[in-house]
Amino acid sequence: MRLILIGPPGVGKGTQAALLESRLGLKPLSSGVIFRSEIDADTDLGHLANSYIKRGELVPNGVTIEMMAKRIRSEEVRKAGFILDGFPRTIRQAEALDTMLLEMAMPLDKVISIEVDDDVVISRLSGRMGCTKCGEIYHSINKPPKREGYCDKCNSPLFVRSDDQPETIRERLRVFRENTAPVRDHYQALGLLEVVDGSQDPEAVYEAIVDGVGI
Ligand code: AP5
Ligand code: MG
Repeated sequence: MRLILIGPPGVGKGTQAALLESRLGLKPLSSGVIFRSEIDADTDLGHLANSYIKRGELVPNGVTIEMMAKRIRSEEVRKAGFILDGFPRTIRQAEALDTMLLEMAMPLDKVISIEVDDDVVISRLSGRMGCTKCGEIYHSINKPPKREGYCDKCNSPLFVRSDDQPETIRERLRVFRENTAPVRDHYQALGLLEVVDGSQDPEAVYEAIVDGVGI
């Protein structure tokens, strides 16, 4: 199965990718998660990415496409399929992905667009926390950890993302509308798009995705 999850910041892409992985064994590939691990590892790519991410801007297409292409072309991903979360985010990235998948004879099954209003996104991102070790995603109101500040699954400390500040969130929403909304339209024109209402609780969103994909 080869899926793309597309949607504004904070709509729940990472939450749904984790559910699809744990329940169906699909392999999530999140460009944001990969960039953050490069930042943590203090690599050159991490330094470059951080200078854009902290402002809510997109990392340049060239390095982003190269980073994702390496993983998509890997033996493991060829065999297991993927759920792309956060990529492609520009028309140039979408066209590069389409070409790559055509060359590999690995067509996409579906592109799931998760959609909610901006005010929901802002409240979700304002309370988000993530696990420093396993990446589990929490929310201070919608999904609080059992022990404050620590992960339920692996007991490691939780952290707040540096781009989850009100001004950066507004900029990420603007960047989404300008650059990523056209990607949604691109896949709609190709007949691959399924729209899911992201304002429901995570279980209901999951069911809608599974229904939309037909699995
Ligand atoms: P990225 O990491 O992709 O961030 P994003 O797209 O802004 O999305 P988020 O991760 O913030 O939200 P999400 O949709 O995963 O929501 P989540 O499940 O966490 O990208 C970060 C940055 O990296 C970009 O700004 C850019 O700079 C750079 N970048 C990444 N990819 C790039 C690319 N391809 N090209 C160029 N630059 C790139 O949920 C959010 C919160 O809501 C959580 O607290 C969760 O518990 C809660 N929640 C989730 N679902 C529900 C629900 N149904 N009901 C109630 N609460 C919910
Ligand atoms: Mg995410």
